[in-house]
Amino acid sequence: MDIFETMKGRQSIRKFRKDPIPKEHILRMAEAASWAPTAGNSQNFRFIAVQDRETLARMRGIVDEIVSRVTRSETPGDKATYHNLFAFAPAAICVVGAPYESATDRTLRDKDPERYKARRFQVNPGLQGISAGITQFILAACALGYGTCWMTGPLIAKQELESALSVRYPEELLAIIALGKPDAAPPKPPRKPASEITTFR
Ligand SMILES: Cc1cc2nc3c(=O)[nH]c(=O)nc-3n(C[C@H](O)[C@H](O)[C@H](O)COP(=O)(O)O)c2cc1C
Repeated sequence: MDIFETMKGRQSIRKFRKDPIPKEHILRMAEAASWAPTAGNSQNFRFIAVQDRETLARMRGIVDEIVSRVTRSETPGDKATYHNLFAFAPAAICVVGAPYESATDRTLRDKDPERYKARRFQVNPGLQGISAGITQFILAACALGYGTCWMTGPLIAKQELESALSVRYPEELLAIIALGKPDAAPPKPPRKPASEITTFR
């Protein structure tokens, strides 16, 4: 598939068929992600591909419990929600990232703490590279005929999920990609025209 077609054709999928996903397909997506640019070529991400139904159910239980505690609402029962839909997919790809600190960051930390803070926490080159990796993963998935939903909603239960997946400091769980063959493709959300988001100087 042409890359422009893939980029335009991809959309968030929130209902999946039950077909299991061959490991080789997940590895092809991970390989596509590995070619993403990362700050200092740090390649500071990895994936935990969860396909085990029991683990997915445990993760969903954790998310549902925290959401209902925080929002003081009933747990959703068997319903898929914005926060837990990954657990209804054949696979949940948990994106684990490590912090990135360049030589410039280390210099700034001592010499200019304000610039250090802006670069590290607002510009956040480490996180930008991880996003590039996720983007390449989901585009590769789309090219292979899979649907994905990039999710940070479940991270309302970040610490609890990290503990369930044995993700330890300095690594962090940063996103979950719901992955599977699409069961329903909702209408595509519209986009701003390129001429509106681009200026030339
Ligand atoms: C960083 C990020 C976090 C997101 N988190 C969620 C989420 O938790 N649950 C969900 O259903 N969709 C989530 N989405 C999907 C967005 O809602 C979706 O990409 C957006 O509405 C545009 O739709 P499209 O992906 O179909 O083009 C997330 C997307 C991104 C990039």
